[in-house]
Amino acid sequence: MYPSHRPRRLRRNAAVRRLVGETTVEPRQLVLPMFVKEGAAEPTPIPSMPGVVQHSRNSLRKAAVDAVDAGVGGLMLFGVPERRDATGSGATDTDGILNVALRDVAAEVGDATVLMADTCLDEFTDHGHCGVLDEHGTVDNDRTLRLYGQMALAQATSGAHMVAPSGMMDGQVGVIRDSLDAAGFTDTSILAYSAKYASAFYGPFRDAVDSQLIGDRKTYQQDPSNGREALRETDLDLAEGADMVMVKPALSYLDVIREASEVADVPVAAYQVSGEYSMIEAAVGNGWLDRQRTVLESLTSIRRAGADIVLTYWAAEAARWLRQEQGTAERGT
Ligand code: PBG
Repeated sequence: MYPSHRPRRLRRNAAVRRLVGETTVEPRQLVLPMFVKEGAAEPTPIPSMPGVVQHSRNSLRKAAVDAVDAGVGGLMLFGVPERRDATGSGATDTDGILNVALRDVAAEVGDATVLMADTCLDEFTDHGHCGVLDEHGTVDNDRTLRLYGQMALAQATSGAHMVAPSGMMDGQVGVIRDSLDAAGFTDTSILAYSAKYASAFYGPFRDAVDSQLIGDRKTYQQDPSNGREALRETDLDLAEGADMVMVKPALSYLDVIREASEVADVPVAAYQVSGEYSMIEAAVGNGWLDRQRTVLESLTSIRRAGADIVLTYWAAEAARWLRQEQGTAERGT
């Protein structure tokens, strides 16, 4: 008795596996999130994200060039200001750290990559929320929208090709689109964090941006138990003019990525967030996981779920590995 079907035939060696592999990860599909700290003379390591730093303006420029040389598709900048206030005024200030850094990187790499900026107030507010608070301490949606419009404009003026509203305020994409268009930035695109969950996996990000959040984000970010709501958010963002949509986090939300990729008629991105990075790095640090294999498997899974683009802190490194693998496969070694 022999089995009549032998799926193992298509796995028997590297050449056949290469021929039939369905999902690819290419450097151009990876976007590197980067942090830049105001006033820093040297890059500062982020303890909960081994291998990731808060850049100085100088080290950011160098790392941006490195990442572009490695072949990544884009850079996503986050600013860490020296001073914070209730309205996050550093975000709309054209001399605020994020806008200064955008100009630095734009001058360095120009149009060789897609330069993106996080459009959200949480890095700039002293209470750590993504918007301004009303008298009850709740995030005031509509007052926040006005600031997002100004913030996006400051970023576009500073050289961002793409702005990425991540605050989950209702109407944020529409307001930003209007604000950009009214100022003539009709070619600046919007990457909408459409389905962004109130996730524990953002934990290490607080370290990365020195943020002390008072309370939680559950009144604006989505409940992890909800899938359908992600589709509603995606639809709304598309109706408001989003050029791309994003699901965040990635690995615990592969079903959401799949569903969003089935309904969206624009590219879908997924953000492999700080906690996803730190989990793997911690296990690798203990000698429990193989770093390169685990990282590439996680990226492949996110792509397989339907993401066209992946934001990942491993973007530059993974891009180098992928280029090496490609070379090796082509030589058949
Ligand atoms: C908000 C923002 C956050 C992240 C990206 N943009 C923090 C949050 O929503 O709490 C998290 C990214 C990560 O964890 O890697 N500006």
